[in-house]
Amino acid sequence: MKRILFLLVTALVVVTSSADNGHSAWMGDFLDMTASQVQGYWRANGYDFAVDSSLPSEGYTVKGTSVRGGSDIALLYASYELMRQKRCGKMHDVAASPKFKYRILNHWDNLDGSIERGYAGKSIFWHTGLKRQLWRTRIEEYARLNASVGINGAVLDNVNASPKVITTEYLDTVKAIADIMRPYGVRVYLAINFASPMALGATSTADPLDSGVKAWWKAKAKEIYALIPDFGGFLVKANSEGQPGPFDYGRTHADGANMLADALHPYGGIVMWRSFVYGSRHKGEDRVMQAVSEFKDLDGKFRDNVILQSKNGPLDFQPREPYAPIFDNMKKTAQWVEFQVTQEYTGQSKHLVYLAPMWKEFFSFVSADSLRGVAGVSNVGNDANWCGHPFSQANWYAFGRLAWDPSLTSKAIAQEWLKMTFEESSNRYFYDSMTSVMERSREMCVDYMMPLGLHHIFKFDHHYGPEPDGFKAEYPIEWCPVYYHKADSLGVGFDRSSKGTGAVGQYREPYRSLYDNLSTCPEQYLLWFHHVAWNYRMKNGKTLWDNLCARYTRGVKAVETTLMTWKLMRSIFVDDCDEDRWNEVDSLLTIQLGNAQEWKDVCLDYFHQFSRMPLPAEGEGTVAPVATRE
Ligand code: GCU
Repeated sequence: MKRILFLLVTALVVVTSSADNGHSAWMGDFLDMTASQVQGYWRANGYDFAVDSSLPSEGYTVKGTSVRGGSDIALLYASYELMRQKRCGKMHDVAASPKFKYRILNHWDNLDGSIERGYAGKSIFWHTGLKRQLWRTRIEEYARLNASVGINGAVLDNVNASPKVITTEYLDTVKAIADIMRPYGVRVYLAINFASPMALGATSTADPLDSGVKAWWKAKAKEIYALIPDFGGFLVKANSEGQPGPFDYGRTHADGANMLADALHPYGGIVMWRSFVYGSRHKGEDRVMQAVSEFKDLDGKFRDNVILQSKNGPLDFQPREPYAPIFDNMKKTAQWVEFQVTQEYTGQSKHLVYLAPMWKEFFSFVSADSLRGVAGVSNVGNDANWCGHPFSQANWYAFGRLAWDPSLTSKAIAQEWLKMTFEESSNRYFYDSMTSVMERSREMCVDYMMPLGLHHIFKFDHHYGPEPDGFKAEYPIEWCPVYYHKADSLGVGFDRSSKGTGAVGQYREPYRSLYDNLSTCPEQYLLWFHHVAWNYRMKNGKTLWDNLCARYTRGVKAVETTLMTWKLMRSIFVDDCDEDRWNEVDSLLTIQLGNAQEWKDVCLDYFHQFSRMPLPAEGEGTVAPVATRE
């Protein structure tokens, strides 16, 4: 009988543990607790909570068992701080408040339930087919996961927005979502289509200076705030990639943004106006310069409740870009950065690429003090584990942690996440190895995809895999890889120096001069700013060609090492009855290795046609890893 009982218990443990599909993410059992239950849990453990209005409204302190917070939401953040400490295995005193007031996820979710650049299933908000209660639960859990890392806003729909999202039918759903998320301090925002009043048949124009259009938006704002008093505001992609905007009426971005800002102002709402524009008024100019060209003269012309939202780099979320110089050029305009948490250009849900080092790199150039907030294009979908790849959850986690405190190191965040997510972290080998795997992974991705400043040589449309020869006459040239690498018999790279397109001129000193000069340009941006001869001698005395080969080889080797490291961990997962998760990551890393090899082969074969210099023999030509900048 004892034996049967033992077998039964073992089977149960196996079933429940191996059913760890990653759904509870870094929160474990805390995911199931409501906001008041999580505080109740700590009260029951001897902690005492009280609001202290002398603290910042979202800030808190923990001294021994005394917890104080500037508001109820701050106390909730404090309870999650305690959760983090407990799950990381060390309780300690702390005083914390967020660096940025706005910490917002942008969901590129379409109303039909699909997600643009989503790799983790369908939308958790729209057209889910879930019964009401399940839909609710999922959104509540999502809000808890956000609150646990301090994320306090969510834009619920795609920047390529449908006018329908602000019709009564959808606003009822938006209200329901806002009500679910409110106890967790997560406000809702909407991306809107600039031509909505016209598209919905209410006006014959969307001209921002037209009185009928202005009145329509004012009435719309009133309607929204009557339903959702703490509605956050609108996110707008205008005159970009085919979206309507003020240019359609000969107006400026400021005219468009200010008209919406005036409608939201009485209720405290904001307009997040994106600077991701190209191919409009400055068509034909180097794409990476167009945002500054279009916005510079408007500096100081935006209302106080308009925020200019710009991607971290001037192009489009590449594995590595220099920082976007718009942050140097708009001195009188409120700004913040948009990071891409979803891995459109970094292997999607197939590659293990931890993005915190990339975001830290951005903050090393653009001071967090100059920004009002941080936005992140979400990687969340309705997959059981939310984000597709088990390690992609780390990017959601890291986004929140950095939006709260950009001075945290990417290593510390990875370590917290590992400890909270994997029981296996109690094993020192797992913990240390995976910390360094995560830390290295972004540089590894740059190496096997686009080293030394190469960029945008992705396959068309889906952006997964290499297509260096990509050219389609029917596409805008800025979508074609050949526009970006400009390989020819002399060399490779885009000359953006003062002798080329002059893009370096948009940077503040010392970067302008540093990037302009071939001999001082950091090698990681070399081919971004310069067209460089194949036989150019780099700092290590080897030619550009040899270095290019060596970087691609190093990238592939790094994935090989990662996969080997993971294989050595199998027994740890077997012992923890977590073999399914090990298998999943193992097969994803195997795919990543194949893809890395393909990137290297396709790119080097292609560039070889121009360089005519020897290709590396198998396994030859690696170079030492570079230190990353933090
Ligand atoms: C990229 C991405 C698009 C997206 C666009 C944007 O180009 O591929 O899917 O709509 O960025 O940020 O607006």
